[in-house]
Amino acid sequence: MARTVLVIGGAGRTGRHVVDLLTANGDRVRVMSRRPSRIGRQGVELITGDIADPSAVARAVDGVDAVVVSVEPPTDPAGSETVMHLGVREVAERAASRGAQVVLLSQIYITRPEKMPGLQEMVRARGRGEQALRNSGAPYTIVRPSWLTNEPAGRSAIRLEQGDTGDGQISRADVARACVEALRNPQALGRTFEMYNEPGPAPTDWAALFGALKPDQ
Ligand SMILES: NC(=O)c1ccc[n+]([C@@H]2O[C@H](COP(=O)([O-])OP(=O)(O)OC[C@H]3O[C@@H](n4cnc5c(N)ncnc54)[C@H](OP(=O)(O)O)[C@@H]3O)[C@@H](O)[C@H]2O)c1
Repeated sequence: MARTVLVIGGAGRTGRHVVDLLTANGDRVRVMSRRPSRIGRQGVELITGDIADPSAVARAVDGVDAVVVSVEPPTDPAGSETVMHLGVREVAERAASRGAQVVLLSQIYITRPEKMPGLQEMVRARGRGEQALRNSGAPYTIVRPSWLTNEPAGRSAIRLEQGDTGDGQISRADVARACVEALRNPQALGRTFEMYNEPGPAPTDWAALFGALKPDQ
């Protein structure tokens, strides 16, 4: 059944892939961007706004069935707290109040911020945003991409991991596919996982990939 999906950061490099997959699937897509003139796509509803602005978030989430958050954080501690913790929390709580699903793009190294010198506070704010989503009551999936590449989708296998111990690369197009599959597969709900490309054939059975993951505690 077609759904209305808000993509916050839908003008970005991963977000655009998410928008393409959703529209190809027949979903109604709403993009939130601070500068929506960047998008210029037919059939996509545009909302100008910042995730750090609660009134913009309220407008953006109103009427949607699901939200994908693909937002690049500011690197300064105050900005990352405002965007990646408080902004994500606002989205999560708004979504929870209407039973909308949230797929949050996070990153690897959330549980080992000391390994990212100079960006530790940004990573910690991201971790607080993850936890706010888990606590919100919204049905959710947290995707932690490893280092992003611009390889096309489906060029290689995908490994999903949990526990945040690895390092590697994943293509933006594959991450977008995972976000959209997470909206379709209930096996992804309540899960947090890291994503890596590795040699081998592209996955075809996302339900099985998600089904092998443990639910969050
Ligand atoms: N680069 C990596 O290797 C890497 C690794 C792991 C995870 N990630 C994460 O993966 C996600 C996708 O990365 P990407 O490189 O594809 O992203 P990107 O191209 O940099 O796009 C990010 C989007 O964030 C939006 N954004 C930034 N601040 C915002 C705010 N305050 N309110 C609303 N939107 C805001 C921007 O939208 P507008 O400018 O249109 O407002 C932009 O479209 C990001 O969360 C990124 O941090 C990246």
